[in-house]
Amino acid sequence: MRIYHTANYDEMSLKAAQIISAQITMKPDCVLGLATGSTPIGTYKELTRQYEAGLLDFSQVKAANLDEYRDLPKDNDQSYAYFMRENLFKHVNILPENTNIPNGTQTDVDVECERYEKVIAQLGGVDLQLLGLGRNGHIGFNEPSDEFPKMTHCVNLTQSTIDANKRFFEKEEDVPRQAYTMGIGTIMKARKILLIVNGSSKREALHRALYGPITPQVPASILQLHPDVIVVADADAWG
Ligand code: F6R
Repeated sequence: MRIYHTANYDEMSLKAAQIISAQITMKPDCVLGLATGSTPIGTYKELTRQYEAGLLDFSQVKAANLDEYRDLPKDNDQSYAYFMRENLFKHVNILPENTNIPNGTQTDVDVECERYEKVIAQLGGVDLQLLGLGRNGHIGFNEPSDEFPKMTHCVNLTQSTIDANKRFFEKEEDVPRQAYTMGIGTIMKARKILLIVNGSSKREALHRALYGPITPQVPASILQLHPDVIVVADADAWG
């Protein structure tokens, strides 16, 4: 595990973007696993800046996102499909047909989970998976539980996650209660993982993930077993 301490959010974002752009330079047709949420917004801004400066080319890059709320159509402004378009895809030259995200509106859970696993397999697997960290130690929407879920699946979001995400919605009742997410097994198959973390609200989760026991009660703790993980976290997260 390679660990970077950065002074603040902006430095974290810059470091993360440099790692992603190094990946694209090394393998222009790489498969990026992408995340949504507050943490990667600065990273996506920096990638956009590098693209606009002519330093990066997304024309062959493929993307597979970690998760999507259930029941939200992709043009809903709270969907993760919408988030990705607004924060990255529409600003760079990635081809829309090369972007992938679970389909929140597919009502048949088995069909959607199988389809998404197949999509990732057909892409040849993920080269670099970007991850944020939930305050309860979740990665993707793999919530604390009694086992590490292997494959893409449908989850019931915990109250802690609903509370954390309600800031994006008008009222708490609007936060979807379920989501599709890559499983822990899916995430761990990525050849390289980049975990980015900022803010004091993530301090306990970060320490439990990196230095605590490996347990599905702290889903991110499984990253201790992955052979190629980079952690970039800011001073507030390290504490
Ligand atoms: C988002 C995702 C989540 C977030 C995590 C942190 O696609 O999979 O695991 O990375 O909830 O969210 P933020 O960055 O909003 O604190």
